[in-house]
Amino acid sequence: MAGTDMRISVIGTGYLGAVHAACLADIGHDVLGVDVDAAKIEALAAGQAPFYEPGLSDVLSRAVGSGRLRLSIDPAQAAEFADVHFICVGTPQQPGSQAADLTYVHAAIDGLARHLRRPTLVVGKSTVPVGTAAALARRLAELAPAGEGVELAWNPEFLREGYAVADTLTPDRLVVGARSDAADEALREVYAPMLAAGVPYIRTDLATAELVKVAANAFLATKISFINAVADVCDAAGADVVRLAEAMGHDARIGRRFLGAGVGFGGGCLPKDIRAFLARARELGVADSLAFLAEVDTINTGRRRRVVELARELVGGSLHGRNVAVLGAAFKPDSDDVRDSPALAVAAAVQARGANVRVHDPAAIDNARAVFPELDYTTDVAKACERADVVLHLTEWREYRDLEPESLAKVVAHARIVDGRNVLSLERWEAANWTVAALGRGRRQG
Ligand code: UGA
Repeated sequence: MAGTDMRISVIGTGYLGAVHAACLADIGHDVLGVDVDAAKIEALAAGQAPFYEPGLSDVLSRAVGSGRLRLSIDPAQAAEFADVHFICVGTPQQPGSQAADLTYVHAAIDGLARHLRRPTLVVGKSTVPVGTAAALARRLAELAPAGEGVELAWNPEFLREGYAVADTLTPDRLVVGARSDAADEALREVYAPMLAAGVPYIRTDLATAELVKVAANAFLATKISFINAVADVCDAAGADVVRLAEAMGHDARIGRRFLGAGVGFGGGCLPKDIRAFLARARELGVADSLAFLAEVDTINTGRRRRVVELARELVGGSLHGRNVAVLGAAFKPDSDDVRDSPALAVAAAVQARGANVRVHDPAAIDNARAVFPELDYTTDVAKACERADVVLHLTEWREYRDLEPESLAKVVAHARIVDGRNVLSLERWEAANWTVAALGRGRRQG
């Protein structure tokens, strides 16, 4: 892709920042990635992605190899080098609260601001409570030697883990909250190749740009909890939620995507974003308007309990002393991210009820072990299922869909499986004499 060769810094090289920095370099900009974590910077400088993301290593090594992406731990170097600075640090849930923790955003802004001596554009990409950008703009003007010459814009990110590179290079849309035409023009220049390819570009005010992001994630979470609530009705009525979702999805106003019923959503974004959105609405005095998001959250966490319950029923009433194989630890396939992973939460809950649990995942074992060291892990599916009284399919990695039910039946103690993602072929598994339980498929069991 032809680039416009701007000098850009990306502050925070976690998931979002590493992908953003590599992709901006890939489209031709000169990029400096900055992080406080020296080990991460070292890995990136060697062209290695510090997490699992299909396609990222290629873009990264190309970017580093061409000299267009350089890495540093020094924000002063970023201030010296770049004319546009992207803030890409994390905003996790605050411990003991539903609200977002803005510590890293404030540290990034403060660390950069005091070195900004010439007119510059700072662009926030982190997911923040509405109103944060306006406050940060005031703080930048106060702290930066260049004062009012430093402008803040907001440009939320919509990338999905597992598709992060494609989502960054060919996004559905670009949203830019810009107060001045100069800021708007600078961001149009940053994204020139995307705009040339016809990607929609929506300019808004700062608050709208911040809200687009959380509203989009809240909508996706609501869609998933909606179908999961309907799944319960399907179970009670003997209907099939998978066929129902397929039929509903043909309506273009509804769409099939994010109508996947099962163990529910997890990850570092959807769960914490709906909570932070509600917490912010409460501060703004409009909590009632978003009260339904608490229900969305409750439905979602209830799915995990429902899977544990199904497993308990399948093994005859008590999980104590039973061998349970858990297929999947990541919060979704094509990722090694285990933050708020439904699969791991179920594995831990089953173990807490006295079961012997063995967890398989193709990519997330190391991260899973760091969070739940007491669980038993393996990278061999057959080994995970050895002598199992029940198998729980909880993250829909492609390889699980391709499993041979006949051969797996030979290694387990009892051929029983819970399909917590509703993607296995019930017919195939039942034909191989498995007892299959699923969520929302009319309690169908062999
Ligand atoms: C989500 C959004 O999809 C991105 O647009 C956004 O940029 C990102 O959060 C973010 O805020 O950074 P991500 O967390 O990568 O992306 O994951 P999703 O693909 O949205 O999946 C979230 C969870 O929902 C996963 O646990 C997934 O298994 C679950 N899910 C998804 C379902 O249970 N059913 C579905 O039909 C779809």
